[in-house]
Amino acid sequence: MDGTITPTTAPVLILLGPPGAGKGTQARMLEEQFGLVQLSTGDLLRAAVAAGTEAGKQAKAVMEAGDLVSDEIVIAILRDRLADADCARGVILDGFPRTKVQAQALDDLLAETGQQIDAAISLDVDDAAMVTRIAGRYTCGNCGEGYHDSFKTPAKSGVCDNCGGTEFKRRADDNAETVASRLDAYHAQTAPLIEYYAQAGALSRVDAMGSIEDIAADLAAIVKTATA
Ligand code: AP5
Repeated sequence: MDGTITPTTAPVLILLGPPGAGKGTQARMLEEQFGLVQLSTGDLLRAAVAAGTEAGKQAKAVMEAGDLVSDEIVIAILRDRLADADCARGVILDGFPRTKVQAQALDDLLAETGQQIDAAISLDVDDAAMVTRIAGRYTCGNCGEGYHDSFKTPAKSGVCDNCGGTEFKRRADDNAETVASRLDAYHAQTAPLIEYYAQAGALSRVDAMGSIEDIAADLAAIVKTATA
């Protein structure tokens, strides 16, 4: 590396929304459809916790309580991941930024490569429904494909549609008490970013109370326009 910054026009999309809004579900579909890379800071933090890194050790208790991990840790993790070669295809940010400090840090990071945000899409939902969505959520232990006890079940019971895996897991923070804290954190610290991106002229809003397929179609239309 000689320190030279290469300008790029790779798309940058942000999915905003409270826990359970469907950010991960939709990001994975957009990743497949548009060849972009899904960057979930929740997944990156859970990987750091599992690996026992210093950042993971600091994040573990905070995540279990449903609070936000410090801006410093999350920004450092995201900056490292964005530098990976695959991100040159363009990224869908799922769960980042979550505070104004993170939003400003993202603007600064993108400015280094001459990039800008193509669309910040708010998934608009009712809080009460989010508890049901989260309580029924589980994922394939092998490939991470997401499912729900009622809303998205594998075609063959107990077998992942994506990879054929037969082991599934549930997240430690997917319980009613922690979900309440996560929703509080969203409204206090993340929802103000809707106005932040509206003022930047990058905001789109989607009614995310419909079916997964209908929401995916709305998002695909926005992404096509934003990246045309
Ligand atoms: P993170 O992993 O980002 O969790 P979250 O924001 O709470 O979001 P979820 O993953 O719970 O929900 P989702 O919107 O992805 O919904 P999903 O698609 O799975 O963060 C976890 C923790 O890490 C945070 O609490 C914080 O501590 C920390 N953290 C992460 N990023 C951070 C940051 N930037 N700064 C600071 N701290 C950070 O869908 C949910 C379920 O509903 C699934 O079962 C799905 O199948 C189902 N479903 C989806 N769409 C629909 C639909 N339309 N109809 C019916 N069911 C649906």
